[in-house]
Amino acid sequence: MAINFTKDIEIEKSKTSKIENVDFNNLTFGSVFTDHMLVCDFENGKWKSPKIIPYQPITLAPSSKIFHYGQSIFEGMKAYKDTENNVFLFRPIDNFKRLNISAKRLAMPELPESYFMDGLRELLKLEKDWIPRAEGSALYIRPFMFATGEGFHASPAVAYKFIIACAPSGSYFSGKVKVLIEEKYSRSANGGVGFAKAGGNYAGQFYPTQLAKDRGYQQVIWTDDNTHEYIEEAGAMNIFVRINDTLLTVPTSDRILDGITRKSIITIAEAEGINVEVRKIKVTELIEASENGSLKELFGAGTAAVVSPISGFGYKGKDYELPQLENTYGALLKKRITDIQTNKTDDPYGWRVKVD
Ligand code: PLP
Ligand code: COI
Repeated sequence: MAINFTKDIEIEKSKTSKIENVDFNNLTFGSVFTDHMLVCDFENGKWKSPKIIPYQPITLAPSSKIFHYGQSIFEGMKAYKDTENNVFLFRPIDNFKRLNISAKRLAMPELPESYFMDGLRELLKLEKDWIPRAEGSALYIRPFMFATGEGFHASPAVAYKFIIACAPSGSYFSGKVKVLIEEKYSRSANGGVGFAKAGGNYAGQFYPTQLAKDRGYQQVIWTDDNTHEYIEEAGAMNIFVRINDTLLTVPTSDRILDGITRKSIITIAEAEGINVEVRKIKVTELIEASENGSLKELFGAGTAAVVSPISGFGYKGKDYELPQLENTYGALLKKRITDIQTNKTDDPYGWRVKVD
C-alpha cells in the first residue's frame, strides 16, 4: 500500500537529547546512536505504518525466530553534510534495492520503496544536527530487518520488524590494515547467501577473523570456498588490486556482495583514464606480482571503510609488504568519491541525493 509519509508517519519526539555528550571531533565507528529511530512492523501479511520514536531498547519474545533461525538482514549507508549544512545521501536507492534482494533470499517480506526512502528522509530531518562535518566522518545509517514472529518450527516467521537507526561515525579502521589470505575457512559458497547482507554472514566471519587477529592481521581476505585459490572479498569490503597501472577487482557473484562503493570506484577510475579489469584474481598472481615488484596497491572499498589501503598480507606463513607509494590510486579514488558524497564537486553520475 502506498502511503503519504508526511501525513501517515507518526512521530514521537525524544524529550531529551544525548547530542551534548558526543565529541564530534573524536568519533569512532558506530558506537553512539542518535535520539530517534524509525520502526515498522510487518504483521498479518502487510507492513503497518512506520513510526519514528525515541531510540530505545526493543522487547522480543524468546521464541522470536530471529534468535533461532537468524532471519536478519541489514544495510549500511551514510548521510553527509556540506559546508552549508545541506544533507546528502549517496545512491540510496541502491541500498533499498539490495535490502529487498537480501529479504527475498532470506524468505523475508520485501519493503515498499517509500517506507525506506521517505522514512529515511523524515528520520534525517529530525537527526540533521547529528551529521558530523569533520573530514572522514559521516552519519552512518543502519536499516535492518529481522524476524519477530514466534515459534520453534524451522520455517520463515510471519512477523518482522524493520528499523533504521543512525550513528555519527568516524573511520572504520584505526591504523594500518594488514590482511591474512584465508586458506581454510569460507565466508560464502555457491548457491549460498554471500551476495545478501545477512547478519549470519558476519557471524560466520568472526571466528576466522579472530584467529587472524591473534596472528597480527586486522582482516581476512576471503578466497573461493571450492579451491581457496582465488581472492573474493576483504572482511566487510570489496577488494581492489593494482598491478602496474591496471586496477583489478573481482566480478560479483552469488558469493560476493555487490558493493555500491565498488561499482562507484570502477566508474570513477575509468573516468580518470585508469585501466580497470574486472576478472578473477588468483592468490598466486598476487604473490608473483608482489615478488616481481608489479604489485603496487591493495585496498578495500565499502561504505563503512570508504577506501582503506592494505599495508601488507600474509599467506601460507609468509608476509608480503605493499610498497609505500606517493600518489596512489586508492587515495585519488577516495578523494573523488568523498568529494562527490560531500558536495565538494559536481556529480556527473547523479549519485548524490539531497535531503530537504
Ligand atoms: N562486502 C561486504 C561483505 C560488506 O559487508 C560490505 C559493506 O557493506 C561491502 C562489501 C561493501 O559494500 P558497500 O560499498 O555497498 O557498502
Ligand atoms: C558497510 O560498509 O556499511 C557495512 O555494512 C559493513 C559493516 C559490516 C560495518
